[in-house]
Amino acid sequence: MTKRLEGKTALVTGAASGIGLAIAERFAAEGARVAVTDLRREPAQAAAKGLAGEGHIALEMDVSDSAAVRDGFAAADDAFGRIDILVNNAGVDRLPGDGFDKAMEGELQLLHMSDESFRGMMGINVEGVFYCTREAVQRMQRDSVAGSIVNLSSIAGLVGQGMPHYSASKAAVLGFTRSCARQLGHLGIRMNAVCPGVIDTPMTRSVPEAMLKGVVGATPLRRMGTAEDIANAVLYLASDESGFVTGQWLSPNGGLVTL
Ligand SMILES: NC(=O)c1ccc[n+]([C@@H]2O[C@H](COP(=O)([O-])OP(=O)(O)OC[C@H]3O[C@@H](n4cnc5c(N)ncnc54)[C@H](O)[C@@H]3O)[C@@H](O)[C@H]2O)c1
Repeated sequence: MTKRLEGKTALVTGAASGIGLAIAERFAAEGARVAVTDLRREPAQAAAKGLAGEGHIALEMDVSDSAAVRDGFAAADDAFGRIDILVNNAGVDRLPGDGFDKAMEGELQLLHMSDESFRGMMGINVEGVFYCTREAVQRMQRDSVAGSIVNLSSIAGLVGQGMPHYSASKAAVLGFTRSCARQLGHLGIRMNAVCPGVIDTPMTRSVPEAMLKGVVGATPLRRMGTAEDIANAVLYLASDESGFVTGQWLSPNGGLVTL
C-alpha cells in the first residue's frame, strides 16, 4: 500500500515530546523524512533516532527566536532540499509569573499575570508560528511546492477555555491561519489548524487530578485524548487527502466542545 506521505519532507516544531513527537512518528511511518525540531536538543535527537525509515534530522530551534528559526530552516533546507510540510506545534500553556498558583487559590488570575508572562506566551505561541511560517513559505514558493502548513491551536482558542494568555495566543493562531490561507491559496499552499481538547501529554500532567477528572466527566467520549488522536488529524491535513481544505480548523476533543 502506498504510504500517505511518501517522498515528502516535513518540519515539526516542539517534536521532542507529546503531540509533536506523535506527529513526527506518524509522518515517518507514512514515508516522510522529518526534521524533528525542539528547544531541547538531546530529546530531539533521541526522538529523531527512534523514527521509522531513514533521512530524519534533529535540530535545536527555539521558535520564539527569529534568528534561530532562520538557521533551523536553512539547516533543514540543506538536508532535504525542499520542505513540503510544516507543523507549527511548539507551544506552552504556562509561564512563570502568570498567576496560575493564585488561580488555584481562587483568586483572579488576570490580576496576578505579569507583562513578561503575557508577552512570553505570545512570543512562543504566536510569534513562533509566524517566524516558522515565513521561512517555510519562502521555500515552498521558491520550489513551487504545493505545501501544507498545520498549526496547533486549541479549544482554548475557540471557546476561551483555559488561561487568558494561552487562550488569546491560540485564538491568534486561528486568525493567522485564516488570513494566511487566503493569501497563500493561489500558490497552492494550504494552511489549517487543529484545535485539540484535553490531551494526555507532559503539558497536562501538571494539571490537578480533580480538574482532569472533571474534564473527562464532561466529555461525551469519557476520556482524555491521546497524542496519537491529534497526530491522526494533523496527518489528514498535511496529506494530499485534504487537498481542497484550507483556512479551516479541526477539533479532536471527544465532544467536549461542539461548534
Ligand atoms: N496537551 C493538550 O491538552 C493540548 C491541548 C490543546 C492544544 N495543545 C497544543 O499542542 C501543542 C503541543 O502540546 P503538548 O501537549 O504536546 O505539549 P508538551 O509540553 O508535551 O510538548 C511541547 C514541546 O514543545 C517544546 N517547546 C516549548 N517551547 C518551545 C520553543 N520556544 N521552541 C521550540 N520548542 C519548544 C517543548 O520542549 C516540548 O518538547 C502545543 O502548541 C499546545 O498548546 C495541547
